[in-house]
Amino acid sequence: MTCVMGILLILVALFIIKLILVSIFFYADIRAAQKKDPAAKSFVEVLLLYQGLHALVSYRIAHFLYKSHLFFLARLLSQATRFTTGIEIHPGAKIGKRFFIDHGMGVVIGETSIIGDDVLLYQGVTLGGTGLAKGKRHPTIGNNVVVGTGAKVLGDITIGDNSYIGANAVVIKDVPANSTVVGVPGRVTRQDGKKIDVSLDHIHTLDPIMQNIEELEKRIKNLENK
Ligand SMILES: CC(C)(COP(=O)(O)OP(=O)(O)OC[C@H]1O[C@@H](n2cnc3c(N)ncnc32)[C@H](O)[C@@H]1OP(=O)(O)O)[C@@H](O)C(=O)NCCC(=O)NCCS
Repeated sequence: MTCVMGILLILVALFIIKLILVSIFFYADIRAAQKKDPAAKSFVEVLLLYQGLHALVSYRIAHFLYKSHLFFLARLLSQATRFTTGIEIHPGAKIGKRFFIDHGMGVVIGETSIIGDDVLLYQGVTLGGTGLAKGKRHPTIGNNVVVGTGAKVLGDITIGDNSYIGANAVVIKDVPANSTVVGVPGRVTRQDGKKIDVSLDHIHTLDPIMQNIEELEKRIKNLENK
């Protein structure tokens, strides 16, 4: 009985030490989560209950193991974390400061992804590759980018700083800084705060199917007017 109590006490002490260490080393990330999630009521709530934070803590350790060439251990940790959080971050990915994944379930971040500072991802986001080629095959996400729920950002493309990827967009081409992208395939609808009229924009139109449909609509209208 005394032995069981002793083990329990040690486990509780280890858990408390872990919480203190995470609070110290991940202070900025926890504050960022509080800032980016209006539902977050307190520091302790984020520390104890946010899967996005737990996945980030585990990723930082796995990334250290990966850089130390302990690839199997790194992957083991990332897969175990996927099991407990629903978030899969490959240990090879590079992630900047104050990163936050809100809700988290279903997020996948590929091995050669590079993520800047102050990035926010929602549930169901994929930063994925487009083929079987080795080398850099995942996206580079700039600073202060938000990727909406369910969005897929695919291939070795760059998302410029301060951009917003809309929910469920599929982005397969570079996105300039300060842009909002929506749709499948993703097209820029807003840049530097200004709304972009897709039919008039000749630089940022990324959707050839939309262009064809608009062209056909114009021809139908012309025929109807005759
Ligand atoms: C893209 C987004 C940021 C809106 O940006 P915005 O520039 O304010 O967009 P607007 O509301 O002015 O809409 C611009 C156009 O894009 C369309 N649009 C907006 N979001 C869209 C989306 N996710 N997919 C497809 N079209 C979208 C609008 O209908 C509008 O079309 P219109 O010009 O033909 O009327 C936002 O809609 C979004 O998707 N946010 C993601 C939030 C999220 O994931 N939350 C998860 C919380 S759990």
